[in-house]
Amino acid sequence: MATQQRLIRELDFPEAPLGMDLLDRPELNKGTAFTEEERTHFGLHGLLPPQVEILDEQVVRAYEAYQRKDDDLERHIFLRALQDTNEVLFYRLLLDHIEEMTPIIYTPTVALACEQFSHIYRRPRGLFVSYPLRDSIPQLLRNRPNKDVDVIVVTDGERILGIGDQGAGGLEIPIGKLSLYTLIGGIHPERTLPIVLDVGTNNAERLKDPEYLGWRHERVTGQDYFDFVDQFVQAVRDELPRTCLQWEDFATPHARPILQRYHDQSLTFNDDIQGTAAVALGALLGVVKVSGRSLRAQQIVMFGAGSAGIGVADGLREAMKGEGLSEQEARGHFWVIDNNGLLHSGRKDLTPEKSVYAQPEGRISAWPRTSNGHVGLADVIGKIEATVLIGLSTVGGAFNEAIIREMARKVHRPIIFPLSNPTTKSEANADDLIRWTEGRALVATGSPFAPVNYRGRTIPIAQCNNVYIFPAMGLGVVASGARRVTVPMMLAAARRLAGNSPALKDASAPLLPPLTELRRVAAEIAVAVGIEAQKDGVAPSISEDELHRRVQATQWTPAYMTGAHTTI
Ligand code: NAI
Repeated sequence: MATQQRLIRELDFPEAPLGMDLLDRPELNKGTAFTEEERTHFGLHGLLPPQVEILDEQVVRAYEAYQRKDDDLERHIFLRALQDTNEVLFYRLLLDHIEEMTPIIYTPTVALACEQFSHIYRRPRGLFVSYPLRDSIPQLLRNRPNKDVDVIVVTDGERILGIGDQGAGGLEIPIGKLSLYTLIGGIHPERTLPIVLDVGTNNAERLKDPEYLGWRHERVTGQDYFDFVDQFVQAVRDELPRTCLQWEDFATPHARPILQRYHDQSLTFNDDIQGTAAVALGALLGVVKVSGRSLRAQQIVMFGAGSAGIGVADGLREAMKGEGLSEQEARGHFWVIDNNGLLHSGRKDLTPEKSVYAQPEGRISAWPRTSNGHVGLADVIGKIEATVLIGLSTVGGAFNEAIIREMARKVHRPIIFPLSNPTTKSEANADDLIRWTEGRALVATGSPFAPVNYRGRTIPIAQCNNVYIFPAMGLGVVASGARRVTVPMMLAAARRLAGNSPALKDASAPLLPPLTELRRVAAEIAVAVGIEAQKDGVAPSISEDELHRRVQATQWTPAYMTGAHTTI
């Protein structure tokens, strides 16, 4: 009787679903874990097999089913279906197998899911804000499944990972990313909202695919595009003024102007630009200690000058200035290369953000050039003593044997980060880098690589992925009540990540903490972010103890509660 009364009290909300309606609600559904009392109360007898299980038992069965899948895309489809059926079980399964499953729900497998979106589509999740409905965006936002939203991840699908324009299929990226906001950052799953701005696609394959589900139209461009984005941002501000809006996988010509326009008007950040910078900086700050040279003494070659490449260079430059270099001195430490070669002052095609890194033409006038007049990666490596080589170019295999051997000939512990995703776009694979440098290279990659066995040593390969930063940034912003995301908040996140590098204690350990540690590290980073937000005057002033308490209270853990009211 007491139990029944407790259940009824817990169900004291007007729209308590019963029977199949309850089982169809992934945020409430417990499946076979509904107890006898709950089954009686919610009209579930007969709808479920008689055996009552606990979450641990469900996880075992779900993992068995997962292992029966033949390839990574099938595993991805399985996990997404579970997410749409029982959210607590989905997140508990992920948490128990975080290293195995993160690459399945996010990069690299999510790239396949984007390409195949129209063929593997099952159930709606998130919002499609398509250009033909541009005058109804406020209404579309009001149709969102949950009223309160802490974090939105939005893409327009134009520059998905390293695989280009995927149109509406790009929605898989915000879905995957928000799963990590929950898994690692602990942002409540019901308080996240994935969105795709469907402005068409220029991907010929998608356009001619009869099953393509997006708006079948070439991309909207120019002022029409920016007006549409403006309508969207305005609607978010009106409808969800306290929600953090994270931009994801926009093409560079759109990503930067959008960030510049909104970063000091809204609670917003671009993960490709700022998150990548913070994680690369975090990895680098850890690794420079191992290499024995401070950050300000590094010569950095950046291969790729898109959103990510310039974003990382900007973050490293700020950190070098923090170590005492002047702006001009810091700039001199960067050798940035795009598809027209090294950025230098003789080039007429440089955007303002690239011009910052233009080396004086006089410094390279006697250097060799390719037939079209470019100074390429091999030329730069041949001419300078590069200590750090970072790839954010999407050019798979660009760090070839000759280039790496030349770099390693001049530097004892070369720092080499091929960061492009997915794996096929990685500028080098970890095994080659270790062999070509006789085991001396300090390597972090964008996509996951297995540890490398070299002359009796097992060398772990850190995955330098934004996942180290964005879930923690989301947690920090939500817990601290920040109204903006500032550059010092990003730098604080990077420093706290660097402080967690296992290589600081043991030079043979990985450069970044394992995924299994990430919930704890995210909480630490969130506190650092919150403290910095207060210093910057963009968050209400609270004590550090109170901030810790709020971070802990915000971090959601997948567990069933008594009654149907499982996750809210
Ligand atoms: P983007 O398309 O904006 O930039 C690519 C850059 O590479 C451009 O500057 C382009 O000129 C340059 N490039 C292309 N071909 C080249 C060549 N043959 N030689 C020299 N430069 C060349 O792309 P974005 O957003 O900057 O991303 C780049 C890559 O970084 C992608 O693969 C993406 O998945 C990856 N990435 C990885 C992250 C991580 O956490 N590991 C985070 C963000 C991006």
